Amino acid sequence: MVKIGDIELPDFPLLLAPMEDVSDPPFRALCKEQGADVVYTEFISSEGLIRDAAKSTMKLDIYEKERPVGIQIFGANLDSMLKSVEIVEKSGPDIIDINFGCPVKKVVSKGAGAGILKDIDLMVSLTEAMVKHTKLPITVKTRLGWDHDSIKIVEVAERLQDVGCASIAIHGRTRAQMYKGEADWRPIAEVKNNPRMHIPVFGNGDVDSPEKAMLMRDEFGLDGAMIGRASIGYPWFFREVKHYFETGTHRAKPTMEERIEAARRHLQMSVDWKGERLGVFETRRHYANYFRGIPHFKEYRQRLVTTDDSAGVFQVLDEVYEKFGDYQFV
Ligand SMILES: Cc1cc2nc3c(=O)[nH]c(=O)nc-3n(C[C@H](O)[C@H](O)[C@H](O)COP(=O)(O)O)c2cc1C
Repeated sequence: MVKIGDIELPDFPLLLAPMEDVSDPPFRALCKEQGADVVYTEFISSEGLIRDAAKSTMKLDIYEKERPVGIQIFGANLDSMLKSVEIVEKSGPDIIDINFGCPVKKVVSKGAGAGILKDIDLMVSLTEAMVKHTKLPITVKTRLGWDHDSIKIVEVAERLQDVGCASIAIHGRTRAQMYKGEADWRPIAEVKNNPRMHIPVFGNGDVDSPEKAMLMRDEFGLDGAMIGRASIGYPWFFREVKHYFETGTHRAKPTMEERIEAARRHLQMSVDWKGERLGVFETRRHYANYFRGIPHFKEYRQRLVTTDDSAGVFQVLDEVYEKFGDYQFV
């Protein structure tokens, strides 16, 4: 059994990665239904939170049905991070996760996200202070290092563990790599193989098939897989991995009916949560994947991503079902 603090998880849990503008409550709920064992919010700026920026505080909403859920925050200022912990606690998450991995310039230039990989002492002291400031488990998501020449992830992980970090998820790329090349899981396995490590070590990066998840478990010996892009518009990825682990065979792809049903519920939950305009707008990015592979779908895809009101999108989904209901996905 794998444990994050007191939270008991099945063997080799599957975690939905934090993803900006993707890992919102409706999407997390769908992933949870399809087998994600832990879900994370997208990253939330600690500076935004303490200024009560509406955009940041809305990201704190969580549904009961998605638990256990981690709220992820980022920042590099101790005071702001501690105040954010207090704000985040009020939403009642199960976990608070610190983003020490975001590679984008506007974040790293402030020393936050992956920027902190240049100052490991600060990374450790921030984590320690946050652990002491809350009873919730503090977890960390990070990258291998700033660049190839400065990978010290084994030492970093051990130090984070020693100050009370409850689990660590490691994306097998450096900041310098951004999203290029292939994720390298070998340094993550080194972290896991360190005999002093006892907290869960989760692997992340490029898990896009059940076979790869199995490789991460069996060849690299990691404690669980954090899954990002493979789940976008495809929450069924989690159950497909689990089915493969249990049976060694591939589960049938979701039917058209299931896809339509997921798209409808996704849209409805988004509209209920964010309101009509934003709900319609922000669900658009998922449709291409929900219906990937259907021939001659272009016209419908176009209408799904340009129709401005939810009633109109529901209508298009009905038409999709009428026209393609018998389509067999392989
Ligand atoms: C659209 C998008 C948004 C992301 N936003 C975040 C984020 O808010 N916090 C974070 O820690 N990582 C974020 N990431 C990185 C992912 O969590 C993950 O580390 C990365 O995509 C590699 O995993 P994958 O190959 O399974 O996608 C984001 C990635 C994508 C594609």
